Amino acid sequence: MDGLDHLCNTVIDLWHRAAAGSNDHKNSLWQFAPPPDDLIRQTVLRHPAAAATHLAAWDYGLDPRTATLHHAIIAALDLVQWQFAYREDELDEGFFDHYGFFELIGPTGHFTSKQLNAYIGYWGPELFYPAHYHEAEELYFVISGEATFTADGRPPVRLGPTQQTYHASWQPHAMTTGSSPILTLILWRGSGLDGAPILCP
Ligand SMILES: [Fe+2]
Repeated sequence: MDGLDHLCNTVIDLWHRAAAGSNDHKNSLWQFAPPPDDLIRQTVLRHPAAAATHLAAWDYGLDPRTATLHHAIIAALDLVQWQFAYREDELDEGFFDHYGFFELIGPTGHFTSKQLNAYIGYWGPELFYPAHYHEAEELYFVISGEATFTADGRPPVRLGPTQQTYHASWQPHAMTTGSSPILTLILWRGSGLDGAPILCP
């Protein structure tokens, strides 16, 4: 068992604890989707990201309810395939030095599932992630840090550890960090699991 197996087990464990109602996660992950039961590890080449260096050094201000998952992510950083979803000319200069995600579960992820996708996403401080959309329905679960989430049709909301927000299929949404970075677990369900986010025109 390596760091990726441990990370996947830690995510699934958090999902089960949510179901048991042993903490205030209970309204989040299970309501969106039960944990996948068809996971298969596949070989995915590692790919580095500048943001991983910042994330690896993040060991302050953690929430005790999610610190185990935070540390499991850091322990797996040398094995993950970081992705960026956008071209460098689509976002502000410097954005890609402080942003990245990897597909833990999904069609091209470290573990495959036909049931849902799960990503780990990191954004550094003082970043604006502009409005974008995608076909799959989405749940953001904040692991560490905080950010302001906006989505068409509802007021902005500032979210911290264990809090979550839902985006419907094709609903435009954006995110802004302040003085803190943010580390998130992002779940996709429904149609479009092999799709990608698209920036709003
Ligand atoms: Fe999204």
